[in-house]
Amino acid sequence: MTGRPRPAIAALPAYRPGRSAAAAEADHGVVDAIKLASNELPFGPLPSVAGAIAAGIEHLHLYADHGASALRQALAAHVGVDLDQVAIGAGSAGILQQIVLAYVDTSEEVAMCWPSFEAYPVFAMLVEAEQIRVPLRDEVFDLPALAAAIGPQTKVAFVTNPNNPTGTVVGTDEIAAFLAAVPDTCLVVLDEAYNEFVDDPRVADSTPLLQQHANLVITRTFSKAHGLAGLRVGYAVGHRDAIAMIDRTLVPFAINELAQRAALASLAAVDEMRVRVAMVIEERARVRDALRTRGWTTPDPQGNFVWLPVGDVASDLGVALERHGVVARPFPDVGVRITISDRAGNDRFLAALDATGVSPR
Ligand SMILES: Cc1ncc(COP(=O)(O)O)c(C=O)c1O
Repeated sequence: MTGRPRPAIAALPAYRPGRSAAAAEADHGVVDAIKLASNELPFGPLPSVAGAIAAGIEHLHLYADHGASALRQALAAHVGVDLDQVAIGAGSAGILQQIVLAYVDTSEEVAMCWPSFEAYPVFAMLVEAEQIRVPLRDEVFDLPALAAAIGPQTKVAFVTNPNNPTGTVVGTDEIAAFLAAVPDTCLVVLDEAYNEFVDDPRVADSTPLLQQHANLVITRTFSKAHGLAGLRVGYAVGHRDAIAMIDRTLVPFAINELAQRAALASLAAVDEMRVRVAMVIEERARVRDALRTRGWTTPDPQGNFVWLPVGDVASDLGVALERHGVVARPFPDVGVRITISDRAGNDRFLAALDATGVSPR
């Protein structure tokens, strides 16, 4: 007997990360596969960030600063909020899990639109919460329907902007209307993991909404635009009372020394980061147009990925792309998500898509 794990944990599906290029190579006998399955940047760390990481190595015999105070301070200044309005976590996934642990008890409700980030249900199941899943409307978060689904038992509602996997956004005005409609007994978590890639003018800075809504927490990450997915740094911005509760659920020293140093250096190099993001945005438009020219339906992409809502051929298309050396992210019976890479990587994706023989839909 291996002790007595909680039944809820035994029943929990493991979080499903994107498949590696090596797995596709082994399965299909292809060489030099490219992974476009986890919405990572195609670039390594900026030189100043790599330098900061190297300089941190000699400190690794010490525990890092549990409160990540220097990074917290820099982020507070960057976002324009007070120091006690920022929490740092191990990736924004870490922060999102902390939020659910801090706010949701067994049998209470977590609300979201669906499909969305696959970790939300896992976190809800971890605390044995009920899930309210409101269907997207035309691939977009349906905020009026989500607001209508929130009841007295709903403790957390996720709004993902841009949404993963569809890449669509809702306008800041719509989020403001949603917040006005939601009771303040429900914490609204605005997940902005892909915020830096947005160029839709309907989306403005969301942080001013914090002034009117103490039940709003905004989460962001260094994994996507900053290209530091492997180091695990994310953050939440919100009311100081909410932040204090979120901080209580942080695993001791969860934000490691190299991660803190790298995130600080990356914030200091935000202009260089924006140049890289601009390249991704330009490539994204090129891939979107290339897909549409070929006859594929794809909603306007606002993250660092495109979405093909192909329904029941999603799994087959995922396998067919792998056979042509491109690892995408199929969502069975819903669609396939493909990360934007550099020009060469994107051309490989488009060529692989053509070679699958799957007709555009
Ligand atoms: C919508 C969304 N939120 C949060 C995350 C978590 O990212 P990380 O934990 O690397 O910050 C992801 C990762 O793909 C995501 O797609």
